Amino acid sequence: MSFVGKAVHYSVDLLLVSTILAGVKRNTGLAPKKDLFGPQPQEYFDKYLGAGEYIYDTSVGFMNASAYFERK
Ligand SMILES: *[C@@H]1O[C@H](CO)[C@@H](O)[C@H](O)[C@H]1NC(C)=O
Repeated sequence: MSFVGKAVHYSVDLLLVSTILAGVKRNTGLAPKKDLFGPQPQEYFDKYLGAGEYIYDTSVGFMNASAYFERK
C-alpha cells in the first residue's frame, strides 16, 4: 500500500477508536485517562477525543433524522 494509503488507513482507525471512546463516555461517563497514549500534550489528546465526539454527535444526529432508525 502507498504511504498515503497507509496514512489514511491509520487515521480512519484512530478516528473509529476515538468515536467509540466518545460513545462510551456519553453512555457511561467513563473517559480514558490522559496518559492513555503516554505523555502526550493535553492539547492533542483533547483534540483527538474532540474529533471522536464530533463524529459521534454527527452520526447520532444523522441517525436521529433518518427513517431507518427509531428510538427503543
Ligand atoms: C432528534 O430529533 C428531534 C426532532 O428533530 C429533536 O427534537 C431531538 O432533540 C433529536 N435528538 C437528538 C439526540 O439529536
